[in-house]
Amino acid sequence: MEIGKDDVALSSAYRLLHPKHVVLASCVDRAGKANVITLAWCMPASIHPPLLVISIAPKRYSHKLIEETKEFVVNVPTMDILKETLFCGRRTGRIYDKFKETRLTPLPAKTVQPPIIKECVAHLECKLHQQITTGDHTLFVGEILAAYADEGIFNGKYNLRKVKPVYHMGGDDFTTLVPEIITPRIQTDQKRRK
Ligand SMILES: Cc1cc2nc3c(=O)[nH]c(=O)nc-3n(C[C@H](O)[C@H](O)[C@H](O)COP(=O)(O)O)c2cc1C
Repeated sequence: MEIGKDDVALSSAYRLLHPKHVVLASCVDRAGKANVITLAWCMPASIHPPLLVISIAPKRYSHKLIEETKEFVVNVPTMDILKETLFCGRRTGRIYDKFKETRLTPLPAKTVQPPIIKECVAHLECKLHQQITTGDHTLFVGEILAAYADEGIFNGKYNLRKVKPVYHMGGDDFTTLVPEIITPRIQTDQKRRK
């Protein structure tokens, strides 16, 4: 039966979940030299304890660094540093010093060795909690040790009038959110039972 749906190759199926919020994960080598990797595959994993997951392919340099030093910081970029965000996602730290090349500013983190990125608006400092191989990626589960955001941009929710988050469409295409907040009202379960 024709149901008006286009098949999507299974190797591209993950793109049906895009646009995805983009983060910049900072990490260090054993000597303390910092690297940055752009990631679209990042999500919360637990509230108590506070855990998040980043998914990184083993061939990435950052994969080796996080495996070795077991710490990373998830930094939240905005459209103001979109070019730098793309650069960190298209060049490897094996060859490039991405902080130098992009002129992003490393600042000391509160609890871990990898630096935070000053130009990002929020920072989640993590120590490695668990590592899980999933097909051709590794899930690095991080325990969040410290979290903070630029003054006045976050009050439980981002102020989208002040912050333009980066969302990855696919390839080199990105989008952002406009400050249109919709809060649907649904009947509570209690009312339903009456
Ligand atoms: C928008 C964007 C999102 C990306 N998301 C991921 C991701 O979630 N996981 C991953 O392993 N690589 C991802 N990449 C690719 C890495 O960022 C890229 O291979 C990077 O150059 C690796 O740097 P490294 O070798 O210094 O670790 C992404 C790239 C871009 C541009």
